[in-house]
Amino acid sequence: MASTAVLLLQLLLVSLASAAHLLGGSAAFTYRGQNPDGTYRVDLRTKSIFTRCDYLSWSCSGSNCLNVARRPSGVIDRNTNTPVNTCEAETVFTTNVSSDKPFQMRASGCCWRSTANSVNNWRLLTEVDLGKRSDTRKPNRSPDIGILPFLRVPQNCPRTYKLTSFDPDGDKVQCRYGNVRGTECDRCNLPPGFLLDQGSCTLHYNYTQANIKAFALEMVVEDFPQGYINLQYGDGSRSSKAPMTVRRGKRAATTTPTPLSKLPMQFSFLVDPPAPSCQEGAFLPKFLTPTPANGGRFLAEVNKELEIRVKAQATDAKINNIVVSGPANIKKSQNTQGEFVLRWTPLPDDHGQHFVICFAVEAVKSPAVYQSEMRCVLVEARSEIVKSHVICNESSMTVSVEKASFPRLHEDHMQLNDPSNTACSLQRHSNSTHIIAIIPLNACGTQIEEDKENLIFKNEITTVDNPSDLITRKHQMEVQFYCQYSKQGNVSLSFVAHRKNITVCEKGFGTFTYQFEFYPNNQFQTMMDPAAYPLEFDIGKRIYMKIKATSSVNNTELFVESCRAAPYDNPNYHPTYSIFENGCKMDPTVQIHSPAEQKEFKFSMEAFKFIGLNNQVYISCSVMMCEAGNSNTRCSKGCINSTSTSPPRSKREAVIQSASHFVSQGPLRLRRSAESVRATATNLNLNLVFIAGCVLAAVGMVCGVVVYRAKVSKVKYQPLPTFES
Ligand SMILES: *[C@@H]1O[C@H](CO)[C@@H](O)[C@H](O)[C@H]1NC(C)=O
Ligand SMILES: *[C@@H]1O[C@H](CO)[C@@H](O)[C@H](O)[C@H]1NC(C)=O
Ligand SMILES: *[C@@H]1O[C@H](CO)[C@@H](O)[C@H](O)[C@H]1NC(C)=O
Ligand SMILES: *[C@@H]1O[C@H](CO)[C@@H](O)[C@H](O)[C@H]1NC(C)=O
Ligand SMILES: *[C@@H]1O[C@H](CO)[C@@H](O)[C@H](O)[C@H]1NC(C)=O
Repeated sequence: MASTAVLLLQLLLVSLASAAHLLGGSAAFTYRGQNPDGTYRVDLRTKSIFTRCDYLSWSCSGSNCLNVARRPSGVIDRNTNTPVNTCEAETVFTTNVSSDKPFQMRASGCCWRSTANSVNNWRLLTEVDLGKRSDTRKPNRSPDIGILPFLRVPQNCPRTYKLTSFDPDGDKVQCRYGNVRGTECDRCNLPPGFLLDQGSCTLHYNYTQANIKAFALEMVVEDFPQGYINLQYGDGSRSSKAPMTVRRGKRAATTTPTPLSKLPMQFSFLVDPPAPSCQEGAFLPKFLTPTPANGGRFLAEVNKELEIRVKAQATDAKINNIVVSGPANIKKSQNTQGEFVLRWTPLPDDHGQHFVICFAVEAVKSPAVYQSEMRCVLVEARSEIVKSHVICNESSMTVSVEKASFPRLHEDHMQLNDPSNTACSLQRHSNSTHIIAIIPLNACGTQIEEDKENLIFKNEITTVDNPSDLITRKHQMEVQFYCQYSKQGNVSLSFVAHRKNITVCEKGFGTFTYQFEFYPNNQFQTMMDPAAYPLEFDIGKRIYMKIKATSSVNNTELFVESCRAAPYDNPNYHPTYSIFENGCKMDPTVQIHSPAEQKEFKFSMEAFKFIGLNNQVYISCSVMMCEAGNSNTRCSKGCINSTSTSPPRSKREAVIQSASHFVSQGPLRLRRSAESVRATATNLNLNLVFIAGCVLAAVGMVCGVVVYRAKVSKVKYQPLPTFES
């Protein structure tokens, strides 16, 4: 009892002691139309960063203000690399005004977290004018602004920030430093060491002394029409708006035009002690592909997830975080390949709006933190085009796409990433109203991706490329989707079940079946009981495996190109342990047993070499069929050390070999004993723990944009000059 009371008291004290301090804030507005009673509704989308998750209170200022309602805030990003932990949140204020005349939204109060340039009070101002523009016949739309609210740079590394200045009306956007003390800003002076190019919205950091306090930058973004326009109001009155004067001479304009709108953009800028080098990629992280360029544009569909991948490198510091600012509920994660993945799903309410997403990557070499350049992209949220839906099961994903939502949508013209396995057929499950695909997690070209918490399986339905068309053409339509399984929780049965035969259908070879089984000895007589999976092996014991193809077509042979072991049953998982590559033995304990016939491949190896530190592994092999006895086939070439792949099949020749197919079997486990655990502590580059996906926590998502690309006019295929005669 007593201890509970003390704890409560401590909690209370902590919460009293830690008033949230501001580190930055910005706002943009969206006109939402007229209410039934004739009043006007505007959403003010605000962002603020505090020393804990909090929001700025905005109030309406103007004779037409009626009321302001705050919607619940959503967290955008938290950062613990900052001198104090920070939280940026988005809060939408719905404001009703009685007329379409200009009004202001203001936030003012105290206090900023102590700043290097004596900014103490916060003063943020937004000006909105809902008059109907003579050019667009609609009220002015807010520029789309984005900024990371906590920027930092080593004092010796000059850097340029090209602030994004998108404008949906095509207006000229200008960024200036606040100059109306008390409403736009508190101090109103650009700190020394910085330069602001207003016209291009570019902030240059040149040089200043490192300071443990950050500078507060109090900037204002304004939009101006490209030419003279009028704004017309509901009461019949008008106002005129002039473009920014473009003067080549020295004389400044006698009167500066008034902007269409005004938005606050305030943020913290920390100047850190000098870095040993300002070279990007050394201490300061350098972006690599596939990171989008600054100013890049994305289309997102309502209810479909947008994914942005960011990759950075720093040779002399450890990359440990991505800082992001964008719409609330944007999610960030890092996969095992070291890429950061930003995910965001627009809601129906976001339709038609633009969102700016800004990001930077941070590397740490304690105690220093090095931030990369900032990049921002613009996302346009559109309404849903193709209606589709995903369900995640234990061992498969089920996707349905409504045919009515897209013209000429038919399963015969669509396919999965790898359609060769007959289990990947879209014809089998589709009906007259829906294209339905049931995709095994380990086949059909399903990609696997892993991060700390989740396993993600991805695939897509795309239009079939016409094989007679030798020009590469983008797909007319793509439906990308994934199932995400939480690695925590119960192991689902399918992850430990025996794999069944795989049936493949291919031109020239017809329908044939691959069987991949384990055997207890080199007689290869009785396969291991499917009910006995996962199979357990003692260290050093030989594992006997046989891959067998059954084909109605005579005179064919089987070839095993590669075999790998991995903790998950998916041929696209990395890293793997190689058993065969390019037909060559990679594991020193591998033995090939002479086959009984051409359509069989028998081999064995010692158990511990590849199971290593994993709880369990699967073995998956890339196999193919060839015309027997033909010396031009990949099968007849056997082990090829070079990485160059077999020549592409020529259309004019008869089909002499099939495509590669994946077969897998498992899982295999080591029989654990105190001794064996020690002995298996070999340094294999595989994951330490295996935790199978938890189906209960699975999330199905249709992601990316379902694209419709108009059929491009067919370019005639130009045969390349040949040097053979
Ligand atoms: C086609 O399948 C979908 C999804 O299972 C189902 O909702 C729909 O009713 C089916 N349509 C017909 C005509 O059977
Ligand atoms: C795992 O499954 C068992 C039996 O189905 C259940 O009793 C248990 O609560 C589950 N554990 C978790 C973490 O879901
Ligand atoms: C798998 O294929 C083999 C022949 O390759 C066949 O004997 C066996 O019955 C098949 N198993 C199943 C479950 O279809
Ligand atoms: C394949 O060979 C078997 C025996 O060699 C023969 O009975 C069968 O008719 C052949 N099938 C075809 C399609 O040639
Ligand atoms: C392939 O390379 C390995 C060593 O990397 C060598 O031992 C082997 O003989 C080579 N095989 C062929 C067919 O060239």
